[in-house]
Amino acid sequence: MSSEIFGKANKLLEEIKANLPKSKEELEAFRIRFLGTKNIIRPLFSEIKNIENTRKKEFGQLLNQLKSNAESKFNELKAGLEAATESQEGEELDLFAPAEPIALGSRHPISITLNKIVDIFARIGFTVAEEREIEDDWHNFTAMNTPEDHPARDMQDTFYLKNSTEMLLRTHTSSVQARVMTSVRPPIRIIAPGRVYRNETISARAHCQFHQVEGLYVDENVSFADLKQTLTYFAKELYGPNTKIRLRPSFFPFTEPSAEMDVSCFICDAEGCNVCKYTGWVEVLGCGMIDPAVLENCGIDSTKYTGFAFGMGIERQAMMKYRINDIRLLFENDARFLKQFTSAI
Ligand code: PHE
Repeated sequence: MSSEIFGKANKLLEEIKANLPKSKEELEAFRIRFLGTKNIIRPLFSEIKNIENTRKKEFGQLLNQLKSNAESKFNELKAGLEAATESQEGEELDLFAPAEPIALGSRHPISITLNKIVDIFARIGFTVAEEREIEDDWHNFTAMNTPEDHPARDMQDTFYLKNSTEMLLRTHTSSVQARVMTSVRPPIRIIAPGRVYRNETISARAHCQFHQVEGLYVDENVSFADLKQTLTYFAKELYGPNTKIRLRPSFFPFTEPSAEMDVSCFICDAEGCNVCKYTGWVEVLGCGMIDPAVLENCGIDSTKYTGFAFGMGIERQAMMKYRINDIRLLFENDARFLKQFTSAI
């Protein structure tokens, strides 16, 4: 009786040794037969009681060997099969293969220009204030001293939200002035970059969306000389140390006095070229002393505080710098166009 059971166990041991599955399916069959929950080895354990005492230990060892042989054989076969399928698929590692080029993205010319401007003002203590693009009439116009009958409010110039006379897409970043001045107390020193919208016919020179950077400085005793000095510093940092600035009187409802700033042409060094239309000067921004009415609208005591503000368009600056002759290129995101800025930062 015992020798028969011994024989059975030894036969299984031989079978495990000789087994050579060639596919995943055959390997799975091997696992089920020898290692599954209803495996063929398990019933042999209940035979132990039928073995004569002198051979019980020997039989136990045989069964344990059977179990561990089945396990190690399975692991070995599994590893072999995986390696075989990998090399069959031709995915062997070729250490001499040339590296795959990694396509580098590039910054958008508008971001490059914006970042440079923000960096320059950050160095003299201006912090960035970003605000909503969907604005109400009060922050965009009323607080900024723009009267009800001002042409800028006209449907033709401003995108109002559907069925609304109140909500609009901001037409300038000056709305951020009102947002900031109504929520923080002076001293205020912020720079506000962002997108603005105007109902313009799209052409090579004009678009219905563009970017501006607004600057705002409110404190006691802020003077026009501070404005001029700040803008001189800015112009030299952005356009080069030999840059000169020129302030021309102008008009904005929210500043008094108001001015427009020209810089000496940074393309031709003021020699005269088609960018400056042979005048040696290019217009870059609008600015002025904050109208006391605007301070009062925002709850700031205009007898105690004064301030200056300026605002500039980014598209035109980027177009001059990179010699881009059609504003639409800046919004189309054609990869062939954008790739040309890979080396710019
Ligand atoms: N908001 C003005 C514009 O869009 C620019 C400006 C800003 C002028 C701040 C003066 C002061 O043209």
